[in-house]
Amino acid sequence: MNQKDKDYLDLMAEATRQLDKVEEIRNKGFKYLGVGTIIYDKAHIINKENIEIGSYCKIDDFTFIYAGKGIKIGNFTHLGAFTSISGGGSINIGNHVGISQGVRMVTGTNDYKQKGYMSAASPIEEQAFYKGHIEIGNNILLATNSVVLPNVKIGDGAIIGACTLVNKDIEPWSVNVGVPCRKIGMRERFETL
Ligand SMILES: CC(C)(COP(=O)(O)OP(=O)(O)OC[C@H]1O[C@@H](n2cnc3c(N)ncnc32)[C@H](O)[C@@H]1OP(=O)(O)O)[C@@H](O)C(=O)NCCC(=O)NCCS
Repeated sequence: MNQKDKDYLDLMAEATRQLDKVEEIRNKGFKYLGVGTIIYDKAHIINKENIEIGSYCKIDDFTFIYAGKGIKIGNFTHLGAFTSISGGGSINIGNHVGISQGVRMVTGTNDYKQKGYMSAASPIEEQAFYKGHIEIGNNILLATNSVVLPNVKIGDGAIIGACTLVNKDIEPWSVNVGVPCRKIGMRERFETL
């Protein structure tokens, strides 16, 4: 190999190292983080390596996110202050989802049908617990203080009213309120990204 080729390869290797560094800083420990996503300083996020967040999302201060089995969030989605994702299961959240202040997404929970303790502070092998999955589509509103339980699917375009308990699957484009949730109407459909 002549010196010119060697210099060129060295230059390319250095450029690749620099790009890797930029990518590492940009990803800040996440499995994936898209461009233009803002995560405010006081958001508390555990197990970042199990979290993929797309582009142009906003994660407000005082959110609590515990990624157990895995979290995937699409693009243009907002998590308002005091929302939480907890329970150690998994969750997929789509694009353009508005998650208002105080929403609780519970991906796993204590299981009183099993023999075992209900406290997360008990020794892990003595706890009765299961981990589930939550699927939240695109273009959805989860209004203030609503609670989403494990193993439910919320269809595209759905509206979940303030303080609603989502304990069953939600039909796409439907409007739902109450504890437990009930459908009160439908929303006009439009093309969703
Ligand atoms: C769900 C929502 C959008 C429905 O609005 P709407 O279509 O105008 O509904 P209405 O106010 O006409 O109410 C229809 C019925 O549902 C009931 N209802 C509405 N919202 C409810 C709620 N969150 N929980 C329980 N019942 C509710 C009303 O009392 C009414 O019942 P009735 O027919 O027995 O009198 C609205 O009530 C709501 O919860 N908005 C969320 C506000 C919010 O948190 N935004 C986040 C900003 S960051």
